[in-house]
Amino acid sequence: MTHWKPDSWRAKRVSQLPTYPNPQKVLDVEKRLASYPPLVFAGETQRLKNRLADVVAGNAFLLHGGDCAESFANLNTHSLQDNFRILLQMAVILTFALKKHVVKIGRTAGQFAKPRSNDTETRNGVTLPSYRGDIINGFEFDEHSRTPDPERMEQAYFHAAATLNLLRAFAQGGFANLEQVHAWNLDFVQQSPQGQRYETVTTKVQEAMSFMNALGINSRNYSQIREIEFYTSHESLLLPYEQALTRQDHNSESGSWYDCSAHLLWVGERTRQLDGAHVEFLRGISNPIGLKCSSKLDPDELIKLIDLLNPKNEPGRLTLITRFGYQKIQDALPKIIHRVQSEGRQVLWCCDPMHGNTLTASNGYKTRNFQHVLSEAQHFLAIHRDEGSYAGGVHFEMTGGNVVECVGGDQEITEDHLSAGLYETLCDPRLNANQALELAFKLQDPLLQIF
Ligand code: PEP
Ligand code: CO
Repeated sequence: MTHWKPDSWRAKRVSQLPTYPNPQKVLDVEKRLASYPPLVFAGETQRLKNRLADVVAGNAFLLHGGDCAESFANLNTHSLQDNFRILLQMAVILTFALKKHVVKIGRTAGQFAKPRSNDTETRNGVTLPSYRGDIINGFEFDEHSRTPDPERMEQAYFHAAATLNLLRAFAQGGFANLEQVHAWNLDFVQQSPQGQRYETVTTKVQEAMSFMNALGINSRNYSQIREIEFYTSHESLLLPYEQALTRQDHNSESGSWYDCSAHLLWVGERTRQLDGAHVEFLRGISNPIGLKCSSKLDPDELIKLIDLLNPKNEPGRLTLITRFGYQKIQDALPKIIHRVQSEGRQVLWCCDPMHGNTLTASNGYKTRNFQHVLSEAQHFLAIHRDEGSYAGGVHFEMTGGNVVECVGGDQEITEDHLSAGLYETLCDPRLNANQALELAFKLQDPLLQIF
């Protein structure tokens, strides 16, 4: 294995990176970013790796979710709180059903870069660079906004820092106190069937808490009740940004490197080439990492990727985030489970039932059908049960907002509803708060059968 350095990716074939008009400006921004404090610490990412190792061992479950793409404009208390809340609610529903610890990771505080299938977009005869996420260019369809601007990397850093600051306060400052479980229900969800169902769960949780309180176990003396561990993640796509935030841990004897932009970084479906720059970068950092896997991934190539990314076969280091699509999973997943199991590789199996199920509605909106999402997740659980492997987690694109982006579900959202003004995503369609709760409830029974 060749020697790794934070910039060794630069010698590799690199895809999905923007072409900046002014390279000197890029160097200046990278230099400033490299001098700023880390956003997360080595010890925290190490702790997450241990938690994920618990999942691999079958003693916990992973809930990973959030926006497809965060935007600078949406940095406000309400949206962060709503997104945090929906993740907490889903975690309570899953913990209550599974009676296992649920590890919580948000797609947040840095999920600003998007891979695109086409480099350009054409509207009314005008062709401009595609929108690649707020860390690269602007969503507005005009030349100025679509031109990649390196200063956006610095803005992304400060947006991520502000996001993380609030999320840390929510996680540790009282909002996530389990004694508040009732208050997490969002106003607009309260009256819905899912909201009502959530109330039933919280009533039971509160009864258990009152019982424990009588024994002297409460939020004053148990941090496990008072606060939660919440971790951040994003796709490791814009490598100049990731490199600038990569730091050596001088406290460890090995002097390991950590990408301090987030706790967990994943490599996407479009950038996971064995000889590519993104895989090269990720193999050298010590954070827990994720690898997106579609049906296009050949099992031989997967084993090579696993060996490159997790050469010590360390449990918790590598999460395979499978995203086949509800029609392909039955064929594709067993093949890779067999191979990974027969080679004795330790991985966390996580289901992303979103990215293989994107479709274009007849009115042109990019959407997903709730039933397809549910179906892929159900197949994932059933296949792992049949294969004797542990279905360790789920990965969703969702928001606490009252948006209308995915069709189906108990709210009976149809394609016509997509144009009613509540379609807000800058990239992929997300489950709204009601759909996210509905999914958690509908997965309770199949989840119970995996043990
Ligand atoms: C994503 O997670 O937003 C994404 C682009 O996924 P994938 O790489 O699996 O297509
Ligand atoms: Co997406």
